[in-house]
Amino acid sequence: MSKGFFITFEGADGCGKTTQINLLDKYLRDKGYKTLLTREPGAKGLGVKLREILLNYDGEVSPTCESFLFLADRAQHVDCIIKPAIEQGIIVLCDRHTDSTVAYQGYGRGLDIEQIKKLNNIAVGDIKPDLTIIFDVDIETSMTRVGKEKDRMESSGIDFFKRVRNGFLEIAKQEPERVKVINSAQSIEKIHEQVTELIENVIG
Ligand code: TYD
Repeated sequence: MSKGFFITFEGADGCGKTTQINLLDKYLRDKGYKTLLTREPGAKGLGVKLREILLNYDGEVSPTCESFLFLADRAQHVDCIIKPAIEQGIIVLCDRHTDSTVAYQGYGRGLDIEQIKKLNNIAVGDIKPDLTIIFDVDIETSMTRVGKEKDRMESSGIDFFKRVRNGFLEIAKQEPERVKVINSAQSIEKIHEQVTELIENVIG
């Protein structure tokens, strides 16, 4: 059996990536591919409990603790869900992964970027995305889409989200082979076309 692919989708809150992942999933299934649509934090089982803490716990959470919780969720997700699926020849579409921890906990919360990257490497082992698409959105649009009902992460403030956006763009500059940026200020159809083109270059 041929090996599957691992594609990750990143971007600030409200960047429209979930809509695009769903469209891509349908596109690939219609073409006869087997896919697995999954997310971080909280794909399944233990991850759902970690997600609940990460997004809804209302007491103090230190940035280091926050990082380790995202990383714990990632390690479980890779070992129990992502790796077995790739080995079965499935195309795994993952809503957020390692780059979110670099952008949010590194650039956003101000933790050491290189250290976060090392911890990410421990969490994922030899599983690395074949392609990462970052949906870039301006902060005003992002905040409008998030709306008034904010979870713990979304309540971190405008300056935090500016650093996160800049973090994602820095990651794309550092790894242009793996990481591609799509401007989210376009129609859903136009963005979908660009997403499918990028995917076809990798799986085709
Ligand atoms: P979610 O509701 O899944 O947001 P979205 O639909 O925007 O993906 O919430 C995930 C939140 O967790 C989001 O604010 C980004 C944040 N996050 C981190 O801060 N670090 C991480 O490593 C990951 C995976 C997510």
